[in-house]
Amino acid sequence: MRSLLPSGDSDNLDVDVDLHAHYALDWIGVGGFRVNFVSSLDGSATVSGLSRGLQTPGDNRVFAALRDLADVIVVGAATATAENYRPARPTQERQATRRRFGLADRPTIAVLSSSLAIDLSAELSAAASPDAPTWIVTTSAAPPERRAKLGAAIANGLNVRLLEIPSQDGVPVDVASELLREAGYVHQLCEGGPHLFAAAARASAVDELCLTVAPLLAGPGGPRITNGHEWPDDAVRSAELVGLLTEDDALFCRYTIR
Ligand SMILES: NC(=O)c1ccc[n+]([C@@H]2O[C@H](COP(=O)([O-])OP(=O)(O)OC[C@H]3O[C@@H](n4cnc5c(N)ncnc54)[C@H](OP(=O)(O)O)[C@@H]3O)[C@@H](O)[C@H]2O)c1
Repeated sequence: MRSLLPSGDSDNLDVDVDLHAHYALDWIGVGGFRVNFVSSLDGSATVSGLSRGLQTPGDNRVFAALRDLADVIVVGAATATAENYRPARPTQERQATRRRFGLADRPTIAVLSSSLAIDLSAELSAAASPDAPTWIVTTSAAPPERRAKLGAAIANGLNVRLLEIPSQDGVPVDVASELLREAGYVHQLCEGGPHLFAAAARASAVDELCLTVAPLLAGPGGPRITNGHEWPDDAVRSAELVGLLTEDDALFCRYTIR
């Protein structure tokens, strides 16, 4: 993978970028809410309902490096289900990389859901462990019977932490991010999906977007990387390009959101 920004060594285009160093800059020691997405050239976030058809080998390496630099992976309930999320279990080598950056051996996963229609027998909850419990982040308006069922499962030993935020209209992502930070999860990596990203950006919770532009046309039908209600003009955000890598005709952009 080559770096275009910061500009690489023009005499030696074969030099491979150190992805951890690239994405750790202005991140480790600072933290924040970083979002990672892959999109087709024509703006689709999925092929046949999943992101897999958009991924390239380089995108998979960026995805892994970003996870290696995160305390918590924040994800919407639909993405957790569609993409079959499980507790993260990094290899020994990746644990060593994490330690080198001062992070715990494993990132934890936090799932946002208003409905609490979460399958507690799925691996993400059922296989979570005390050192990296899965967090479920919801609102005070969640259905009481599902809230009670979750509370009972936790009382019976399910390694899940429940974070309930007062709101009648979805989890305010800025508040959730701040509470996770107070709980020690300083480096927050949001892996989508599009509804969560739109809510997070609308709440001014997003510090950074890491966007892979995959070199293919997916055609109409798939969602964009933001989804939900249209924004008023004054909600539109601008961004600054702070990193740009390329490999196999794909672009790996790193933007700071203003
Ligand atoms: N291209 C990529 O990089 C990429 C990345 C991620 C996902 N995807 C794709 O995106 C699709 C899913 O799209 P999506 O927009 O539906 O995903 P999503 O944002 O993960 O899921 C939406 C659901 O997540 C919960 N949620 C999101 N924001 C919330 C908030 N602020 N407060 C409370 N709950 C919140 C809600 O769950 P409840 O209904 O339980 O309340 C909501 O219905 C999948 O096909 C997936 O493969 C693509």
